Amino acid sequence: MRIDIISVVPKLMESFFAHSILKRGQEAGHVEVVLHDLRDYSLSKQRQVDDYAFGGGAGMVMSVEPIARCIRHLQSERHYDEIIYMTPDGETFNQQTANQLSLQGNLLFLCGHYKGVDQRVRDMFITKEISIGDYVLSGGELAAAVCADAIIRLIPGVLNDETSALTDSFQDNLLAPPVYTRPAEFEGVGIPPVLLSGHEAKINEWRFEQSIERTKTRRPDLYQKSGL
Ligand code: ADE
Repeated sequence: MRIDIISVVPKLMESFFAHSILKRGQEAGHVEVVLHDLRDYSLSKQRQVDDYAFGGGAGMVMSVEPIARCIRHLQSERHYDEIIYMTPDGETFNQQTANQLSLQGNLLFLCGHYKGVDQRVRDMFITKEISIGDYVLSGGELAAAVCADAIIRLIPGVLNDETSALTDSFQDNLLAPPVYTRPAEFEGVGIPPVLLSGHEAKINEWRFEQSIERTKTRRPDLYQKSGL
């Protein structure tokens, strides 16, 4: 998979993709993440990428020309399965969307800033609009990083243990069960004995029950969706 991200502050995202699982995924050739500085596509000497809003009002609007130039340049090199605009008024991101996007070949993310992008960008180029939640960030960079992380870890081979993404919270509309590691007793507090039993079927049964219990109490909305 290839993920391109267009931003006015690409440096903000560099270190995020240069560590841990995301770094390994790239080194192993499962995914390539390429950051693009929108200012490189500006038509002005000052590398300006925004302007005042027609009709007045506070806040700048990201101009259509640099974004169009950047997207068209990238499109001339490859086809994008989705061109995604990160915006608080997009559809709310969830595990199902992450699963769907992880099956694509090339994704292009556009990070919004200021009061957002000129509507013509959205009308002419964007195929999907994603929000990561009902709150407003200073820019779309963190949101794009969140989506890219959730997507990349689902690409087969990126995680060491291929099954571990399948047992993540939300994969079957259930939250993940509690986990424990050594020591088996800490300051007098032990762990559920079944986990020391070595009995795989019983352990799986216990984990499933815990998942159900957690989902029922913490996320009754998800529990309903699980159909259990
Ligand atoms: N840009 C600003 N806020 C955002 C949000 N909640 N989700 C996606 N992009 C954003």
